[in-house]
Amino acid sequence: MNLTDIAPGACPADEEAENEALTSTAIYVCITCRRASDPEDGPRPGLALARATARAAEGTGVAVRQIRCLANCSRALSAAMRCDGAWTYIFGGLEADTDAAALIEGARLLARASDGLMPWRGRPEVLKRGLIARVPPLDFEEESE
Ligand code: FES
Repeated sequence: MNLTDIAPGACPADEEAENEALTSTAIYVCITCRRASDPEDGPRPGLALARATARAAEGTGVAVRQIRCLANCSRALSAAMRCDGAWTYIFGGLEADTDAAALIEGARLLARASDGLMPWRGRPEVLKRGLIARVPPLDFEEESE
């Protein structure tokens, strides 16, 4: 299925298509992230965020994968989000105890986006202020002026 087949604001008849798109969506959570003030040998809040996100993803079809370092250490906690045919998003400044649901909501928005871009409207606040970068899909070409 192509993500462009999914209209924004999908009606219940499109639920199946949306669920299929969600299964092509993955969130990568850095498990080695910590705040500068956290002890180096203590439990990593990045791992806590990864576990909370995995729990929040249960039943959604979204894959949550653990990764060691997204090279965004100075703006931890960090996560990246990918979806077939869509832009890839990298987020920082996440909190282990509050932001798992926001990551899942972001994955939903990205999976539904007909243009492959996570819409600003409706995006959880932490995914607005915590946006580090977005990267186009492999076949992306900027339209010439
Ligand atoms: S340790 Fe998490 S981004 Fe580097």
